[in-house]
Amino acid sequence: MLILGIESSCDETGAAIIKGDHKSKKVKLLSNSLATSLNIHAKTGGIIPENAAREQIKFIIPVIKDALKKAKIEIKDVDKIAVTSGPGLIGSLLVGVETAKTLSYVYSKPLIPTNHLLGHLYANFIDENQEEIEFPSIALIVSGGHTDLVLIKNHMDFVWLGGTRDDAAGEALDKIGRLLKLPYPGGPHIEKAALNSKNSKYKFPSPLINSKDFDFSFSGLKTAVLREVSNKKLNNQQVSDISFAVQKSIVDVLIKKTIIAANLFKAKSILLGGGVAANQTLRDQLANSINENDLSNIKLFIPSKILCTDNGAMIAAAAYFNDYSTSFEKVDANPNLYF
Ligand code: KG4
Ligand code: ZN
Repeated sequence: MLILGIESSCDETGAAIIKGDHKSKKVKLLSNSLATSLNIHAKTGGIIPENAAREQIKFIIPVIKDALKKAKIEIKDVDKIAVTSGPGLIGSLLVGVETAKTLSYVYSKPLIPTNHLLGHLYANFIDENQEEIEFPSIALIVSGGHTDLVLIKNHMDFVWLGGTRDDAAGEALDKIGRLLKLPYPGGPHIEKAALNSKNSKYKFPSPLINSKDFDFSFSGLKTAVLREVSNKKLNNQQVSDISFAVQKSIVDVLIKKTIIAANLFKAKSILLGGGVAANQTLRDQLANSINENDLSNIKLFIPSKILCTDNGAMIAAAAYFNDYSTSFEKVDANPNLYF
């Protein structure tokens, strides 16, 4: 089955073609095309939704054409079209959803409305050479808009365990990046700055680290950093040391709750996904933590860095395994879609 996946929930415009194989239960990535309006948001220090939506309109058709060309197919060869229907910025979402609906109508293809958050998890299913992912699985989604722990009992069978009560992990990194005068988006720049820290004297709280639930909270961390830096002119070493401490406090709480959930639900696998999953410290320390806790029976899956941030391939993969095909009239953008 050939699926065209379309993603336009925020500032990335993605289209990809995947080929699903019912026998092997694996998907093969034939093409993955991406455009981003990041440069524009870097100038404003954050995303202005209308600017993001306008850029989506510019990119959407060229990106879809490019994905088809790279996969060496035409749109008539596609079996189904998948599109992110939410959550996300409404203006951005509408561009992908309305384009997908039009293609579905004109070419008579079923449409699969797909949850962006599921997409981040199914980025883990794209590597056709890896071993099969066994359920139950504990999935940690860490992105700019979300921080969620999810129990995957099976495809199409998810239980939301907890999430952030305020800022998402990526959102906190981006806001703290701004406090440290680092370029937007803060996440990758904080990671880079932290590499130059050896003996950070800074220590920030890991909020809710000992709470008996699977919730997170990162807005207090932002306030703690604000208190530390306000009215100070920081040198590069201080920026690096604060970045290191911020990254540590976020990574520690994410890993602790993921490991607790994996134990509690006797998970056979842990899946990481979302833009913050591109962070090497999070990737390494989660792997170490699984070893240190003697959980070698739990297999860890982390997408390649390019598939952690938003893309069309993850939407096509999520749609292949969670095929809610319907007719285009029944699909609407829903900025508040959840599990
Ligand atoms: O998943 P994503 O592309 O978009 C959303 O769905 O939100 O995630 C974007 C987020 C941003 O907050 C960005 O700062 C963060 O992912 N991010 C990182 C890294 N790369 C991207 N955070 C930490 N380390 C990174 N290497
Ligand atoms: Zn995302």
